Amino acid sequence: MRSFNFLLDFQTKLIYIPPMIKLAPSILSADFGRLTEQIKEAETAGADMFHLDIIDGHFAPNVTFGTAICKKAREASPLPMDAHLMVTDPEFYVDEFLKMKVEYITFHLEIGGYRQDLGEKRWVYTLGEKIDESRINTLIDTIKSGGAKAGLTLNPPTDIESAYPFLEKIDLLLLMSVNPGFSGQAFIDNVYDKIAKANRFRKAKNLNYAIMIDGGVDLSNAEKLHKTGADILVSGSSFFKSNDYAEFVRQLKEL
Ligand code: DX5
Ligand code: ZN
Repeated sequence: MRSFNFLLDFQTKLIYIPPMIKLAPSILSADFGRLTEQIKEAETAGADMFHLDIIDGHFAPNVTFGTAICKKAREASPLPMDAHLMVTDPEFYVDEFLKMKVEYITFHLEIGGYRQDLGEKRWVYTLGEKIDESRINTLIDTIKSGGAKAGLTLNPPTDIESAYPFLEKIDLLLLMSVNPGFSGQAFIDNVYDKIAKANRFRKAKNLNYAIMIDGGVDLSNAEKLHKTGADILVSGSSFFKSNDYAEFVRQLKEL
């Protein structure tokens, strides 16, 4: 049943209905042998944008794909593309993504931080003792002056307060609900508190960055994520492994 979270002011008869949640399938879970078709299928099914997971094997424990695949994705659909750069040196790659005309370029606040070993050939980057604010601001400025929207991403161990100094400048806040590296990992639920705080901060400061959640998202947690303040959900395995993409979108949009 469709349920609206609404504020009804009986005096003024003002009704607030929040916009529907948006879906950004992550092509990391698509069949690369038929990438163009998969993207078109997702687009036809009602996806709102596409999420491109670029990992360099250093910032996170996997090597995924680079600009050649991203260009293919770009050519396959006019929908917005979000390049999620899980790389240690985003400065080396921003220009290529600007040239390719992706709409969003998203990089991590933990660049320049510490590598925390998680065992079993896994690790996650955490913040260093001090964030290099000038580096983060320069990256945001480079992305925006190059004509794209700037996204900032936080790994699960990073507290939301560390991002506050940059939220006025960004267009997208990407909160990770898995440690970056792979599709199909279990959802880490410390993200709810960060969403709620980021949403409150946005309202209090009258900002309009979108809040996007990435990792372990499926139809079982989507509604709570949306109600807590998320605007866009990334879905890799839950979307591409579903039998009927249109039905997946329909159920998600009904929540
Ligand atoms: C993790 C990536 C995610 C991942 C999502 O490193 O950033 O975008 O592909 O996949 P699921 O939805 O399967 O967790
Ligand atoms: Zn991602």
